[in-house]
Amino acid sequence: MKHVESTPPLAAHDNIRAVQWVGDRLRLLDQRKLPFEEAWIDCRNANEVAQSIRDLVVRGAPAIGIAAAWGVVLAAQRGDDLDDALAALRAARPTAVNLMAALDRMRACADAGADATVLAREAQAIQDEDLAANRAMGAMGAALISPGSGVLTHCNTGSLATSGFGTALGVIRAGYTSGNIARVFAGETRPWLQGARLTMWELQRDRIPATLIADSAASHLMKSGEVQWVIVGADRIAANGDTANKIGTYQLAIAARHHGVTFMVVAPATTVDMATSSGEGIDIELRDPTELLGCAGQRVVANGAQAWNPVFDVTPHELIDVLVTERGVITQPDATSLRAVFGKPGAH
Ligand code: MRU
Repeated sequence: MKHVESTPPLAAHDNIRAVQWVGDRLRLLDQRKLPFEEAWIDCRNANEVAQSIRDLVVRGAPAIGIAAAWGVVLAAQRGDDLDDALAALRAARPTAVNLMAALDRMRACADAGADATVLAREAQAIQDEDLAANRAMGAMGAALISPGSGVLTHCNTGSLATSGFGTALGVIRAGYTSGNIARVFAGETRPWLQGARLTMWELQRDRIPATLIADSAASHLMKSGEVQWVIVGADRIAANGDTANKIGTYQLAIAARHHGVTFMVVAPATTVDMATSSGEGIDIELRDPTELLGCAGQRVVANGAQAWNPVFDVTPHELIDVLVTERGVITQPDATSLRAVFGKPGAH
Protein backbone atom coordinates (compact mmCIF):
# COMPACT_ATOMS: atom_id res chain seq x y z
CA MET A 1 0.00 0.00 0.00
CA LYS A 2 1.15 3.48 -0.88
CA HIS A 3 2.44 5.61 1.97
CA VAL A 4 1.71 9.32 1.62
CA GLU A 5 3.51 12.35 3.03
CA SER A 6 1.67 14.23 5.75
CA THR A 7 2.32 16.90 8.35
CA PRO A 8 3.86 15.52 11.57
CA PRO A 9 2.76 14.45 14.13
CA LEU A 10 -0.34 13.25 12.32
CA ALA A 11 1.75 11.56 9.63
CA ALA A 12 1.71 8.33 11.61
CA HIS A 13 -2.08 8.43 11.46
CA ASP A 14 -2.63 9.13 7.78
CA ASN A 15 -1.22 6.55 5.41
CA ILE A 16 -4.13 4.91 3.62
CA ARG A 17 -5.30 6.02 0.15
CA ALA A 18 -8.09 3.74 -1.10
CA VAL A 19 -9.03 5.71 -4.25
CA GLN A 20 -6.07 6.24 -6.60
CA TRP A 21 -6.08 7.77 -10.06
CA VAL A 22 -3.31 6.34 -12.22
CA GLY A 23 -3.75 8.33 -15.44
CA ASP A 24 -5.95 6.04 -17.49
CA ARG A 25 -7.80 4.04 -14.83
CA LEU A 26 -9.07 4.28 -11.27
CA ARG A 27 -7.55 1.93 -8.71
CA LEU A 28 -9.81 1.06 -5.80
CA LEU A 29 -8.87 -0.86 -2.69
CA ASP A 30 -11.53 -3.58 -2.57
CA GLN A 31 -13.21 -2.92 0.78
CA ARG A 32 -15.23 -6.13 0.53
CA LYS A 33 -12.04 -8.12 1.11
CA LEU A 34 -10.58 -6.22 4.06
CA PRO A 35 -9.11 -6.75 6.58
CA PHE A 36 -7.48 -10.00 5.52
CA GLU A 37 -6.79 -9.24 1.88
CA GLU A 38 -5.54 -5.97 0.35
CA ALA A 39 -6.76 -6.42 -3.21
CA TRP A 40 -7.09 -3.64 -5.78
CA ILE A 41 -9.62 -3.31 -8.58
CA ASP A 42 -8.95 -1.29 -11.73
CA CYS A 43 -11.93 0.58 -13.23
CA ARG A 44 -11.49 1.54 -16.89
CA ASN A 45 -14.87 3.14 -17.63
CA ALA A 46 -17.73 4.90 -15.85
CA ASN A 47 -19.89 1.78 -15.69
CA GLU A 48 -17.16 -0.11 -13.86
CA VAL A 49 -16.90 2.76 -11.37
CA ALA A 50 -20.69 2.76 -10.90
CA GLN A 51 -20.63 -1.00 -10.37
CA SER A 52 -17.84 -0.66 -7.79
CA ILE A 53 -19.87 1.94 -5.92
CA ARG A 54 -23.00 -0.22 -6.00
CA ASP A 55 -21.11 -3.33 -4.84
CA LEU A 56 -19.30 -1.46 -2.01
CA VAL A 57 -15.81 -1.99 -3.44
CA VAL A 58 -15.58 1.72 -2.65
CA ARG A 59 -17.90 3.14 0.00
CA GLY A 60 -18.31 6.06 2.38
CA ALA A 61 -19.99 9.27 1.25
CA PRO A 62 -16.96 11.37 0.25
CA ALA A 63 -15.13 8.42 -1.33
CA ILE A 64 -18.01 7.53 -3.63
CA GLY A 65 -18.23 11.16 -4.76
CA ILE A 66 -14.52 11.20 -5.54
CA ALA A 67 -14.66 7.86 -7.36
CA ALA A 68 -17.64 9.05 -9.40
CA ALA A 69 -15.78 12.22 -10.42
CA TRP A 70 -12.98 10.03 -11.78
CA GLY A 71 -15.63 7.93 -13.54
CA VAL A 72 -16.63 11.05 -15.47
CA VAL A 73 -12.98 11.59 -16.42
CA LEU A 74 -12.77 8.02 -17.73
CA ALA A 75 -15.86 8.60 -19.85
CA ALA A 76 -14.36 11.81 -21.28
CA GLN A 77 -11.03 10.12 -22.02
CA ARG A 78 -12.78 7.30 -23.88
CA GLY A 79 -15.14 9.61 -25.74
CA ASP A 80 -18.17 7.94 -24.14
CA ASP A 81 -21.49 9.75 -23.83
CA LEU A 82 -21.12 11.95 -20.75
CA ASP A 83 -24.85 12.09 -20.05
CA ASP A 84 -25.00 8.29 -19.92
CA ALA A 85 -21.95 8.16 -17.67
CA LEU A 86 -23.32 10.81 -15.31
CA ALA A 87 -26.69 9.02 -15.13
CA ALA A 88 -25.13 5.62 -14.41
CA LEU A 89 -22.89 7.04 -11.68
CA ARG A 90 -25.70 9.04 -10.11
CA ALA A 91 -27.93 5.97 -9.90
CA ALA A 92 -25.26 3.85 -8.17
CA ARG A 93 -26.42 4.67 -4.62
CA PRO A 94 -29.20 7.02 -3.45
CA THR A 95 -28.42 8.33 0.03
CA ALA A 96 -24.99 10.00 0.15
CA VAL A 97 -25.36 13.43 -1.42
CA ASN A 98 -21.61 13.75 -1.94
CA LEU A 99 -22.13 11.56 -5.00
CA MET A 100 -24.61 14.01 -6.51
CA ALA A 101 -22.53 17.04 -5.46
CA ALA A 102 -19.41 15.67 -7.17
CA LEU A 103 -21.33 14.79 -10.33
CA ASP A 104 -23.01 18.21 -10.44
CA ARG A 105 -19.59 19.80 -10.23
CA MET A 106 -18.19 17.60 -13.01
CA ARG A 107 -21.24 18.30 -15.19
CA ALA A 108 -20.87 22.05 -14.71
CA CYS A 109 -17.23 21.75 -15.73
CA ALA A 110 -18.09 19.69 -18.82
CA ASP A 111 -20.90 22.10 -19.74
CA ALA A 112 -18.34 24.91 -19.62
CA GLY A 113 -16.41 23.09 -22.34
CA ALA A 114 -13.82 21.19 -20.30
CA ASP A 115 -11.96 18.37 -22.02
CA ALA A 116 -10.69 15.23 -20.28
CA THR A 117 -7.55 16.98 -19.03
CA VAL A 118 -9.51 19.81 -17.43
CA LEU A 119 -12.05 17.35 -16.01
CA ALA A 120 -9.17 15.39 -14.46
CA ARG A 121 -7.98 18.59 -12.78
CA GLU A 122 -11.48 19.08 -11.37
CA ALA A 123 -11.67 15.51 -10.05
CA GLN A 124 -8.26 15.95 -8.43
CA ALA A 125 -9.47 19.19 -6.86
CA ILE A 126 -12.51 17.39 -5.40
CA GLN A 127 -10.19 14.74 -3.96
CA ASP A 128 -7.66 17.26 -2.59
CA GLU A 129 -10.32 19.51 -1.08
CA ASP A 130 -11.79 16.54 0.78
CA LEU A 131 -8.44 15.75 2.37
CA ALA A 132 -7.97 19.37 3.42
CA ALA A 133 -11.50 19.46 4.86
CA ASN A 134 -10.84 16.30 6.85
CA ARG A 135 -7.67 17.66 8.38
CA ALA A 136 -9.43 20.91 9.33
CA MET A 137 -12.39 19.05 10.84
CA GLY A 138 -10.06 16.73 12.72
CA ALA A 139 -8.39 19.65 14.46
CA MET A 140 -11.66 21.45 15.23
CA GLY A 141 -13.48 18.36 16.47
CA ALA A 142 -10.59 17.15 18.62
CA ALA A 143 -10.31 20.56 20.29
CA LEU A 144 -13.87 20.18 21.64
CA ILE A 145 -12.98 17.06 23.60
CA SER A 146 -11.61 17.18 27.15
CA PRO A 147 -8.29 15.39 27.75
CA GLY A 148 -8.61 11.73 28.66
CA SER A 149 -12.06 11.21 27.13
CA GLY A 150 -13.54 8.00 25.76
CA VAL A 151 -15.38 7.96 22.43
CA LEU A 152 -17.64 5.58 20.55
CA THR A 153 -17.82 5.62 16.76
CA HIS A 154 -19.98 3.79 14.25
CA CYS A 155 -19.41 2.43 10.75
CA ASN A 156 -16.21 3.47 8.98
CA THR A 157 -15.54 7.15 8.42
CA GLY A 158 -11.80 6.99 7.96
CA SER A 159 -9.32 7.10 5.11
CA LEU A 160 -11.20 4.29 3.41
CA ALA A 161 -14.40 6.34 3.31
CA THR A 162 -12.82 9.60 2.16
CA SER A 163 -9.87 11.06 0.30
CA GLY A 164 -7.81 10.32 3.41
CA PHE A 165 -7.65 10.89 7.19
CA GLY A 166 -11.42 10.68 7.60
CA THR A 167 -14.28 12.66 9.10
CA ALA A 168 -15.32 11.23 12.48
CA LEU A 169 -12.26 8.99 12.37
CA GLY A 170 -10.19 12.08 11.51
CA VAL A 171 -11.38 13.68 14.76
CA ILE A 172 -10.44 10.47 16.54
CA ARG A 173 -7.01 10.42 14.87
CA ALA A 174 -6.39 14.06 15.82
CA GLY A 175 -7.85 13.63 19.31
CA TYR A 176 -5.72 10.59 20.02
CA THR A 177 -2.61 12.42 18.84
CA SER A 178 -3.35 15.41 21.10
CA GLY A 179 -4.21 13.23 24.10
CA ASN A 180 -7.79 14.44 24.30
CA ILE A 181 -9.01 10.97 23.36
CA ALA A 182 -7.80 8.16 25.61
CA ARG A 183 -10.24 5.38 24.73
CA VAL A 184 -11.84 4.45 21.40
CA PHE A 185 -14.74 2.04 20.98
CA ALA A 186 -16.07 0.98 17.59
CA GLY A 187 -19.46 -0.62 16.95
CA GLU A 188 -19.25 -3.58 14.59
CA THR A 189 -21.95 -2.15 12.24
CA ARG A 190 -24.08 -5.05 11.14
CA PRO A 191 -24.69 -6.26 8.52
CA TRP A 192 -21.71 -5.19 6.44
CA LEU A 193 -19.36 -4.86 9.44
CA GLN A 194 -17.72 -1.59 8.42
CA GLY A 195 -16.78 -1.00 12.08
CA ALA A 196 -15.41 -4.47 12.75
CA ARG A 197 -13.67 -5.01 9.41
CA LEU A 198 -12.62 -1.51 8.35
CA THR A 199 -12.45 0.87 11.33
CA MET A 200 -10.62 -1.65 13.49
CA TRP A 201 -8.20 -2.29 10.60
CA GLU A 202 -7.50 1.42 10.14
CA LEU A 203 -7.01 2.03 13.85
CA GLN A 204 -4.72 -0.97 14.24
CA ARG A 205 -2.57 0.19 11.31
CA ASP A 206 -2.30 3.59 12.98
CA ARG A 207 -1.53 2.02 16.37
CA ILE A 208 -4.53 3.68 17.97
CA PRO A 209 -5.82 1.27 20.60
CA ALA A 210 -9.50 0.53 20.04
CA THR A 211 -12.08 -1.84 21.44
CA LEU A 212 -14.75 -3.45 19.30
CA ILE A 213 -18.28 -3.74 20.68
CA ALA A 214 -21.40 -5.43 19.36
CA ASP A 215 -23.81 -2.77 18.12
CA SER A 216 -26.20 -3.92 20.81
CA ALA A 217 -23.63 -3.16 23.57
CA ALA A 218 -23.69 0.62 22.95
CA SER A 219 -26.20 1.66 25.64
CA HIS A 220 -24.51 -0.57 28.20
CA LEU A 221 -21.17 1.03 27.32
CA MET A 222 -22.59 4.53 27.73
CA LYS A 223 -24.06 3.61 31.12
CA SER A 224 -20.64 2.41 32.26
CA GLY A 225 -19.19 5.93 31.96
CA GLU A 226 -16.38 4.82 29.64
CA VAL A 227 -17.39 7.17 26.80
CA GLN A 228 -18.12 10.90 26.91
CA TRP A 229 -18.69 11.33 23.17
CA VAL A 230 -20.32 9.51 20.27
CA ILE A 231 -18.62 10.67 17.06
CA VAL A 232 -20.09 9.73 13.68
CA GLY A 233 -19.98 10.78 10.05
CA ALA A 234 -22.88 11.52 7.71
CA ASP A 235 -24.17 10.65 4.27
CA ARG A 236 -26.59 13.55 3.89
CA ILE A 237 -27.40 16.44 6.19
CA ALA A 238 -30.71 18.14 5.42
CA ALA A 239 -31.16 21.91 5.64
CA ASN A 240 -32.55 21.62 9.19
CA GLY A 241 -29.63 19.48 10.41
CA ASP A 242 -31.40 16.10 10.29
CA THR A 243 -28.63 13.66 9.45
CA ALA A 244 -28.68 10.43 7.47
CA ASN A 245 -25.88 8.06 8.41
CA LYS A 246 -25.25 4.34 8.71
CA ILE A 247 -28.13 2.34 10.14
CA GLY A 248 -27.86 2.31 13.93
CA THR A 249 -26.71 5.92 14.24
CA TYR A 250 -30.19 7.08 15.29
CA GLN A 251 -30.37 4.65 18.20
CA LEU A 252 -26.88 5.74 19.30
CA ALA A 253 -28.09 9.37 19.39
CA ILE A 254 -31.12 8.43 21.48
CA ALA A 255 -28.98 6.42 23.89
CA ALA A 256 -26.38 9.21 24.07
CA ARG A 257 -28.99 11.80 25.05
CA HIS A 258 -30.37 9.47 27.71
CA HIS A 259 -26.91 8.93 29.23
CA GLY A 260 -25.62 12.51 28.98
CA VAL A 261 -23.05 11.51 26.32
CA THR A 262 -22.34 14.26 23.77
CA PHE A 263 -23.20 13.45 20.16
CA MET A 264 -20.96 14.85 17.39
CA VAL A 265 -21.50 14.62 13.62
CA VAL A 266 -18.45 15.29 11.45
CA ALA A 267 -18.93 15.85 7.72
CA PRO A 268 -17.61 18.07 4.94
CA ALA A 269 -19.79 20.72 3.28
CA THR A 270 -20.26 18.33 0.35
CA THR A 271 -22.48 16.23 2.66
CA VAL A 272 -24.82 19.15 3.39
CA ASP A 273 -27.91 19.18 1.18
CA MET A 274 -29.61 22.55 1.53
CA ALA A 275 -32.12 21.52 -1.16
CA THR A 276 -33.67 18.92 1.14
CA SER A 277 -35.51 20.67 3.95
CA SER A 278 -35.60 17.82 6.49
CA GLY A 279 -34.74 14.17 6.98
CA GLU A 280 -38.19 13.22 5.68
CA GLY A 281 -36.95 14.01 2.18
CA ILE A 282 -33.87 11.77 2.31
CA ASP A 283 -33.95 8.61 0.21
CA ILE A 284 -32.83 5.73 2.44
CA GLU A 285 -31.10 2.93 0.56
CA LEU A 286 -32.62 -0.52 0.99
CA ARG A 287 -30.16 -3.28 0.18
CA ASP A 288 -30.62 -6.95 -0.54
CA PRO A 289 -32.08 -8.70 2.54
CA THR A 290 -29.65 -11.55 2.00
CA GLU A 291 -26.92 -9.26 3.42
CA LEU A 292 -28.72 -9.71 6.75
CA LEU A 293 -29.45 -13.39 6.47
CA GLY A 294 -25.81 -14.37 6.73
CA CYS A 295 -22.59 -13.36 8.35
CA ALA A 296 -19.25 -13.19 6.48
CA GLY A 297 -20.80 -15.03 3.54
CA GLN A 298 -22.18 -17.84 5.70
CA ARG A 299 -25.95 -18.21 5.88
CA VAL A 300 -27.06 -18.11 9.53
CA VAL A 301 -30.84 -17.73 9.25
CA ALA A 302 -33.27 -20.53 8.48
CA ASN A 303 -34.14 -20.87 4.81
CA GLY A 304 -37.34 -19.08 3.86
CA ALA A 305 -36.89 -16.31 6.49
CA GLN A 306 -37.46 -12.71 5.43
CA ALA A 307 -35.40 -9.64 6.37
CA TRP A 308 -35.64 -5.86 6.03
CA ASN A 309 -32.33 -4.17 5.29
CA PRO A 310 -32.36 -0.34 5.33
CA VAL A 311 -28.68 0.65 5.44
CA PHE A 312 -29.07 4.22 6.67
CA ASP A 313 -31.28 6.01 9.18
CA VAL A 314 -31.98 9.64 9.99
CA THR A 315 -31.02 11.21 13.31
CA PRO A 316 -33.26 14.21 14.07
CA HIS A 317 -31.24 17.39 14.52
CA GLU A 318 -32.54 17.81 18.08
CA LEU A 319 -30.39 14.83 19.10
CA ILE A 320 -27.19 16.26 17.59
CA ASP A 321 -25.12 18.34 20.01
CA VAL A 322 -22.36 19.39 17.63
CA LEU A 323 -21.91 19.43 13.87
CA VAL A 324 -18.34 19.88 12.66
CA THR A 325 -17.70 20.83 9.03
CA GLU A 326 -14.62 22.46 7.52
CA ARG A 327 -16.54 25.73 7.77
CA GLY A 328 -16.60 25.53 11.56
CA VAL A 329 -18.40 24.09 14.56
CA ILE A 330 -22.17 24.41 14.83
CA THR A 331 -23.65 23.60 18.22
CA GLN A 332 -27.25 22.33 18.25
CA PRO A 333 -27.57 22.52 14.47
CA ASP A 334 -30.93 23.60 13.09
CA ALA A 335 -32.37 25.33 10.01
CA THR A 336 -31.25 28.79 11.16
CA SER A 337 -27.67 27.88 12.04
CA LEU A 338 -27.21 25.82 8.86
CA ARG A 339 -28.58 28.61 6.66
CA ALA A 340 -26.12 31.02 8.29
CA VAL A 341 -23.20 28.80 7.28
CA PHE A 342 -24.37 27.15 4.04
CA GLY A 343 -26.75 29.72 2.59
CA LYS A 344 -29.64 29.05 0.30
CA PRO A 345 -30.45 25.69 -1.26
CA GLY A 346 -28.59 24.59 -4.38
CA ALA A 347 -29.92 21.77 -6.52
CA HIS A 348 -28.51 18.27 -6.57
O1 MRU B 1 -22.80 2.02 3.34
P1 MRU B 1 -21.54 2.81 3.57
O2 MRU B 1 -20.44 1.98 4.14
O3 MRU B 1 -21.14 3.58 2.35
O4 MRU B 1 -21.94 3.87 4.70
C1 MRU B 1 -20.97 4.76 5.15
C2 MRU B 1 -21.45 5.63 6.25
O5 MRU B 1 -22.57 5.57 6.66
C3 MRU B 1 -20.48 6.64 6.78
O6 MRU B 1 -20.73 6.88 8.13
C4 MRU B 1 -20.64 7.95 6.00
O7 MRU B 1 -20.60 7.71 4.62
C5 MRU B 1 -19.61 8.94 6.35
S1 MRU B 1 -18.02 8.44 5.75
C6 MRU B 1 -16.94 9.73 6.02
